[in-house]
Amino acid sequence: MLAARQRAAEVGVAAVDALTGAVLALLAAAANGKAVVELGTGAGVSSLWLLRGMRPGGILTSVDSESEHQRLAKASLAEAGVPAGRARLIAGRALDVLPRLSDAAYDLLFCDAAKSENPDYLEAAARLLRPAGVIVFAGALAGGRIAEPAARDPETVALRELAKTVRDDGRFVTAALPVGTGLLVAARTC
Ligand SMILES: C[S@@+](CC[C@H](N)C(=O)[O-])C[C@H]1O[C@@H](n2cnc3c(N)ncnc32)[C@H](O)[C@@H]1O
Repeated sequence: MLAARQRAAEVGVAAVDALTGAVLALLAAAANGKAVVELGTGAGVSSLWLLRGMRPGGILTSVDSESEHQRLAKASLAEAGVPAGRARLIAGRALDVLPRLSDAAYDLLFCDAAKSENPDYLEAAARLLRPAGVIVFAGALAGGRIAEPAARDPETVALRELAKTVRDDGRFVTAALPVGTGLLVAARTC
């Protein structure tokens, strides 16, 4: 995990902090994670946390548009002793890869790629997740800024909109968790 974090720092990737990682592992376990999708592999820090919570034979599909990041993640997973068959690393843009994934086949979708695409990831989740499956958005509270009315920068405004959209979407039950820069978690109800 430390080596993965170091690799992330070397290429300027913001990896999840340890508390956020522990919550990801918990959610992957609570969702009975046999098949999990991660958007935004980075150098593999969050991948390792997700795998830690998943079922022993569970398979993580992780997507990143930067092949260099995926190369680093592959090294992180191998160094951590993760068997090659447990992680399917796909180099590509999330919106190009998501349509290729099967319907209602996934227990959890972790979104940590392009924040501007978060609404598209939510729509994809409605198709990809099994009932009671979970979607998690990283950095969704902008470190608390979404609660500050004076914060009007485009990213904070988009995250605020996302939180409202998920809250008002009858297909999901949701909660915001103030860990790290904030996790927005929603479970499919139907
Ligand atoms: C914040 S980092 C992910 C960090 C990782 N989840 C972790 O905690 O270790 C975001 C990653 O998303 C990737 N990315 C950005 N836009 C993307 C897109 N549209 N599709 C797929 N990956 C994307 C970047 O290359 C980067 O590696």
